[in-house]
Amino acid sequence: MSDVAIIGLGYVGLPLLLAFRDAGCEVTGIDIDPEKIEKLKRGESYLSHIPPESIESSLDDKATLSNDMAAIQKASAVIIAVPTPLTDDMTPDLSYIESTTGQIARYLAAGQLVSLESTTYPGTTRDVVIPILEKGSGLKAGEDFFVAFSPERVDPGDPDHDLTMIPKIVAGLDEESLQLAVDLYSRITPEVVPVSTLETAEMAKLLENIYRSVNIALVNEMKMLADTMGLDIWEVIAAASTKPFGFQAFYPGPGLGGHCLPIDPFYLYWIGKTRYDFKTQFIELAGKINSEMPQYVLKRLLDAMEGRGKEIDGAKILLIGVAYKPDISDTRESPGLRLMSMLEEIGARVSYHDPFVPVLPPTRDYPGFTGRNSVDLEAGTIGEYDLVVIAANHSNVDYGLLGRNASLIIDTRNAMRDFGGEGADIIRS
Ligand SMILES: NC(=O)c1ccc[n+]([C@@H]2O[C@H](COP(=O)([O-])OP(=O)(O)OC[C@H]3O[C@@H](n4cnc5c(N)ncnc54)[C@H](O)[C@@H]3O)[C@@H](O)[C@H]2O)c1
Repeated sequence: MSDVAIIGLGYVGLPLLLAFRDAGCEVTGIDIDPEKIEKLKRGESYLSHIPPESIESSLDDKATLSNDMAAIQKASAVIIAVPTPLTDDMTPDLSYIESTTGQIARYLAAGQLVSLESTTYPGTTRDVVIPILEKGSGLKAGEDFFVAFSPERVDPGDPDHDLTMIPKIVAGLDEESLQLAVDLYSRITPEVVPVSTLETAEMAKLLENIYRSVNIALVNEMKMLADTMGLDIWEVIAAASTKPFGFQAFYPGPGLGGHCLPIDPFYLYWIGKTRYDFKTQFIELAGKINSEMPQYVLKRLLDAMEGRGKEIDGAKILLIGVAYKPDISDTRESPGLRLMSMLEEIGARVSYHDPFVPVLPPTRDYPGFTGRNSVDLEAGTIGEYDLVVIAANHSNVDYGLLGRNASLIIDTRNAMRDFGGEGADIIRS
């Protein structure tokens, strides 16, 4: 019998699969995307921060990789790590959880533990997942099978906080579910943090992400004010950060991206509003400020161009970093892509450079960008651009080369902090 089956082998599920395998468990990895399964079988990686060597060294012939949910029958624990996006009207889209759970129910066996890791609103595991599992299997939760919720906290691309170093919050439907889940996750994390209810664990994850979203919005607003006052927000933050207690630094940027911060807070906003008639103000305000940041950067950029007598219509612009954050290839909800789209709408000709995204993948919001290639950074060609915009600060970009050869740089990430005064006119925005 295989120990653990992971369903959904994306940014969350794939590292989990590798961690359980490295911990000596027999693993089954299931994904509906046949290309992902084929790549893993060939020992290839499809995530830029997971090297193929990790796949090769972890996924030996004892790992089962499949598109077929029937493969969960071998597992004693089934972990769900599928997407939880928002619909176009900003309400939770649980369709991935519902369809996955429906398929699990067909093969669910007595004694199995099902653990949901997808980020979602409090009540999802109890009110959505369990009824689907019970209906489809004819088994009873807490008697025939066991249920847990354990939010994932992985930070893709951050080598200092590998999944196996992060404490894991765990909640069970009942005592036995909790104990099974604690035993399961103790195999891969140094610290398991049990909490009393499924809903507590669900909300804890949302609180973590809302805390980040609100603090980033706060510092984005402070940046806009500092710009107006002629102050350098980066210096202000560095100074405030010297306080040894009571202050945690967050940094401004061109807007939020990824599958978490722009989305998850609205799961809590939605459940509060629709089920408890409670409208959370911080979530809405933070969402508004953060989502308006690309427009702010665009305004600063247009002012800078105008101040130098340059027209945006027909201007050649080089955008650095289409991933939503440093050192990964994830372009979901990327503010860099949003800037690219806004700039092209007003007539600019935009090229991009991103060592992590050599070719732009299909995205829901910008299908027209699919297949575009990252341009090389060369001293001779950088000077041909009217403007360079830094949207993501990857650590392997040659900022010195940019500083020496560009004419004008809009730096939304303080990436040019060590390269001022070498040629380019640098505007931190
Ligand atoms: N990306 C992060 O940094 C991060 C961090 C913590 C939590 N989360 C949460 O974890 C969840 C997963 O996020 P992700 O970033 O890994 O998403 P992802 O899109 O990278 O991966 C999800 C995977 O699930 C697969 N899938 C979808 N439906 C399926 C089905 N019915 N059966 C089998 N496979 C299916 C998809 O093909 C995909 O490979 C989300 O709820 C997200 O909010 C993400």
